[in-house]
This record gives sequence, structure tokens and C-alpha cells, in this order.
Amino acid sequence: MAKKSKKPPKSEFNRKSTAEEVTDGISLRGKTALVTGCNSGLGFETMRVLTMRGAHVIGAARDEKKAKDACEMMAGETTPVACELSDFDSVVACAEQVNSLGTPIDMLICNAGIMALPDLEQKYGLELQFVTNHLGHFILVNRLLDQVKQAGAGRVVMLSSAAHQQAPKGGIEFDNLSGEEGYTPFTAYGQSKLANVLFANQLAKRLEKTKVTANSLHPGVIATNLGRNMKGPMMAVMGLMFLPFMRNIPQGAATQCYVATHPSLEGVSGYYFSDCQAKKTSRYGRDAKLAERLWNVSEDLTAQYLG
Ligand SMILES: NC(=O)c1ccc[n+]([C@@H]2O[C@H](COP(=O)([O-])OP(=O)(O)OC[C@H]3O[C@@H](n4cnc5c(N)ncnc54)[C@H](OP(=O)(O)O)[C@@H]3O)[C@@H](O)[C@H]2O)c1
Repeated sequence: MAKKSKKPPKSEFNRKSTAEEVTDGISLRGKTALVTGCNSGLGFETMRVLTMRGAHVIGAARDEKKAKDACEMMAGETTPVACELSDFDSVVACAEQVNSLGTPIDMLICNAGIMALPDLEQKYGLELQFVTNHLGHFILVNRLLDQVKQAGAGRVVMLSSAAHQQAPKGGIEFDNLSGEEGYTPFTAYGQSKLANVLFANQLAKRLEKTKVTANSLHPGVIATNLGRNMKGPMMAVMGLMFLPFMRNIPQGAATQCYVATHPSLEGVSGYYFSDCQAKKTSRYGRDAKLAERLWNVSEDLTAQYLG
């Protein structure tokens, strides 16, 4: 596990707290956030609440129109940017556009994601959830890190999931990143969400000597467009399984808004949160060697896009 510069305090919030409640009384005036997947679900609510608290939000979506449409629905200051995470040229172009704004980034919220594609899909010869959920964000964060450092106590927030516990044996199948040696939709999703935890931990370790923090989180189970790939019986089974735990979108966006903004978390790095509290990950999520290996492999896979 990454060295933690400060232990997170027990928070006054819980699974029912909303994004508005956890940011109540916090002024984000003069601060800038970037939110990926700003046009839907938790990303949209996060952008709404952060702008409501006075932040300038750079809203990233797959294409310019989606980003612009979402930003136009906000009352506060926004800048729409296109960022198709499974197209590394698009990620680089997004990072360059954000670089050219020249503004320090106080909160970099890697929220976008896809879940449980029914059949194996690939990009760059790699399984698409690993590419989208992990590698696209790996490039984006690395290319924006100087701007996060310029913010002083900038925060990188990675949306993971409790599904990181469904990662395959060994955590990350380095010899099957293509998915061709075997593909199960939820196992591949779990692997990509474990990658989000390990990336945050390794980033926290690499940033130990700075004031920048990196944390990951599970937002809860929320009915959003994330379930778009689940059809008929699968949807019914999942609905029955998770119904008792379901929360609404304002509650679902609370943990990421809490981790991104709450003053009590300044200097807290390398942790995993759920229900607005620090929680334990799976054993793979605490494996420092695995985190380091994933970083090195990710760097090799994306070398030409890292700049
Ligand atoms: N909802 C839950 O129960 C739950 C539970 C655990 C973790 N999470 C995590 O929470 C995060 C937000 O999910 P959500 O529930 O808000 O789902 P959502 O409503 O489906 O939103 C996902 C966002 O990610 C974007 N996205 C997907 N693929 C992309 C790509 N290739 N490039 C750029 N953007 C892309 C989507 O854009 P489009 O609309 O254009 O597709 C959308 O804006 C995800 O990382 C998810 O894994 C959610």
C-alpha cells in the first residue's frame, strides 16, 4: 500500500449523504476541477455541485457536443472538452487543450467508465474496459500532473468500485490484457476497477514528497447509464441483488465530491473510500508490488502518448 502522509479522520457523513451535503459550507471559488464523463450520471452531478460551490469545472465527455451540452446546463463557470478515453490521440488532444488553458487543476476527477461489455471488445489489441477505465485515465493524469502540482494541494480522485474485488486471480492478468485468453464481462470490469485503485496508490507513492494527493473510491450502487450493457434477465438478477443497497445519484456523487473537496482530507493520500469513509480494499488493492508492476506495464503500453 502507498505510504500515507496522514490518516483520514472519521467523517460525519454516511451512505445517505448527498454531494450537496458533503460540500455544504465549502467555497470552491477560484478553484478548478476537471471531471471526466461529465455528461451522465455521477459525473454530471459532480460537475453540477462543484460549479454550484463556485469552482470552474472543465467538463470532459467523449465528444465536444456532449461536453458542451452538459456544460450549458450548469449555472456556474465551465469549459467543455472532448476526451474519448479509448482513443489515446483524443486523450492527448484533451490534455493539450487543458494545458493551453494554463490554469492549475485543484481537483482531477477520473469518473468516466464502462461496465461489463457482454462480448470481448478491443482497442490497441487490449481489452476495452482496461483501455477506457484505466489506460485512458493513466495518460490523462500523467499529462495533467504538472497542472495539478501547480495547484499546491491538488487532488487526483479515481472512481473505482467495490467490483474491484471481482478482479481475476492474481489481480491483473498481465498475460491476458488482450482478453483473448479468456473473457468474462464482470471479471474484466473488476480488473479495470482494481487498476484504478492500484493506479491511485502508486501515484500517491510517487507524489509523497509533494502536497498532491491521490485516492480511489467506490460511489455505491446507483441506477445510472452504467448498466446499459446489461440486458433482460441479467438486469433483473442485478436489480434484485442490489435493490436493498441502491442509492440515488445525489448520494452516489457524494463520496467523490467529499474526497475531492473536504478540508479534513488535505494531505490524505493513498486511501480508498466508500460511503464517505476510508475503507479497506481487497488484498490485491493493497499489494504495492502489483501497483508498481501495473504502473510500469501501463507506462510501456502508452509510452508514445505520455509526452
Ligand atoms: N453507478 C454505479 O452503481 C457505480 C458503482 C461503482 C462504480 N461506479 C463508477 O462510477 C463512474 C461513473 O459511472 P456512472 O454510474 O455515472 O455511469 P454513466 O452514467 O454511464 O456515466 C459514465 C460516463 O463515462 C463516460 N464514458 C464512457 N466511456 C467513455 C469513453 N470511452 N471516453 C470518455 N468517456 C466515456 C460516459 O459517456 P457516454 O455517456 O458518452 O457513454 C459517461 O459520461 C464509473 O467509473 C463507474 O465505474 C459506478
